[in-house]
Amino acid sequence: MSEPQDSQLADNPLYLRQKERADANKPPSRNSPLGAVAQSRFPEGRSRREMVEGILAQDEGLVEGHFGSVHYIPTTVCGIDLKLEPLQPSIGTIVHGLDLATDLNDPEMVSFLRELWLQRRVIMFRGQAHLSRQQMVEFAQHFGEVGAPFGEREHIPNSPHDLNQQVKVPEIPNMLVLPSDERVPNAATGWHCDATWQTRPPMGSILMCRESPPIGGDTCFCDCYSMWEGLPLVTKRRIEGLTAVHVGGVGHQMDGKTPAAIHPVARTHPETGHTTLYVQQGFVRRFAEEHEITEDEEKSLLLQMKMQEGRPEYTCRFRWEEGSLAMWDNRAVLHTASGDFWPHRRLMERLTILDFDATRRRPYYARQRTD
Ligand code: SIN
Repeated sequence: MSEPQDSQLADNPLYLRQKERADANKPPSRNSPLGAVAQSRFPEGRSRREMVEGILAQDEGLVEGHFGSVHYIPTTVCGIDLKLEPLQPSIGTIVHGLDLATDLNDPEMVSFLRELWLQRRVIMFRGQAHLSRQQMVEFAQHFGEVGAPFGEREHIPNSPHDLNQQVKVPEIPNMLVLPSDERVPNAATGWHCDATWQTRPPMGSILMCRESPPIGGDTCFCDCYSMWEGLPLVTKRRIEGLTAVHVGGVGHQMDGKTPAAIHPVARTHPETGHTTLYVQQGFVRRFAEEHEITEDEEKSLLLQMKMQEGRPEYTCRFRWEEGSLAMWDNRAVLHTASGDFWPHRRLMERLTILDFDATRRRPYYARQRTD
C-alpha cells in the first residue's frame, strides 16, 4: 500500500474511513464516479486488490509521448513568441511559450493574459512544475487578491478536517492541496463553480498538477454563457429575475453551520457585461422562497437548466501533466474533475482569486439588450 500523500491525512477522519475500507480489501464505493468507473473497467474483480491489479494491468503499456499536430495561433507579446492552442471553439486555450515564474513582470503581458482569460473562460499552461507554491501565489496576485481556500476570509472552518480530504499548507494557508491515491481516492466530481455558497464567491481559481495519473483525471470546463444562450426564450423570460439558493456540503461547514447564499439565476459578468446561467447541480438546491414557485414548476425549471450542463459543444477537457496549470473564471465556467483514474495517484494544488474591485464580487443581474 502507498504512503499517504501528506502526513496531515494521517488523522483526517474522512481519510481514515476510506483507509479502513481499503484495509478491508473493499473496492471504492460505486456511489462515487471513481468506484463506478473502476467497476466498469474491471467488473470481474472480486476484491479491491484484484481490481487494482486488473486495472493497472490494462494501463501497463502506457508510455509518455506526444504525436499528431494541433492548430494554434502564433502571436508575440512583450517580445515573447507564444502559441495559443484552442481546446474547443468557444472555450479553453492552452498558452505555450511562457514561464509563469519570470515572464509576467510586464503589465502588458498580464493585460494580454487577462483579456484572453475573459474571452476563453479558462487558460492553461504546461511545463510549470518549477513554480514553488509561493510563486503560484505570486502568479495569482497578478490577477486578483488571493482568497481563502473557499473564498473570502471572514468565515472560520469548523475544524481542521472540514475541508473534506484536503490538506492545508501551513506556510500558505490560502492553498488547498487535493490528494488522491489507491487507498484514499478523491476527486471533486460534479459540475460546480467554486464556493458559490459564499455571498461573494471567488472570481477565479488556479489549479496546478503536481502528480498526474498516466490516464484519466482530466478537468472538464463548461461555458456558462452558452448555457444561458441555449435556454428557450420562454424559460429565459421566466427565470431571469429569479434568485436561487446555493448550499455548501458537510465538508464546507463554517462558523458552526453549513454555508448558504442566494444568487441571481441569470448573472451579468461584471467585466464582459454578458449574461451567464449561474445555476449548477453542485450547489443549487431551490429557488428563493420569496418567488413562491410551486414544487412542480421548480423541478421543471431546475431540470431544464441542469440539462445545459456538460453539453459537449459547451465544454472542453484538459489533460493534466505534471506542471500543468489552469486558471478559470468562476463567473463564466463550471468545472468538474473526471473521477475515472483510480487506482492511480493524482495530486493538485488550488488557489482561489477574488476580484481586486470589491464592488464586483457579489453576483448581480442587469438585463442585456440581447437577453
Ligand atoms: C476543484 O473542483 O476545485 C478541483 C477540480 C479538479 O481536481 O480537477
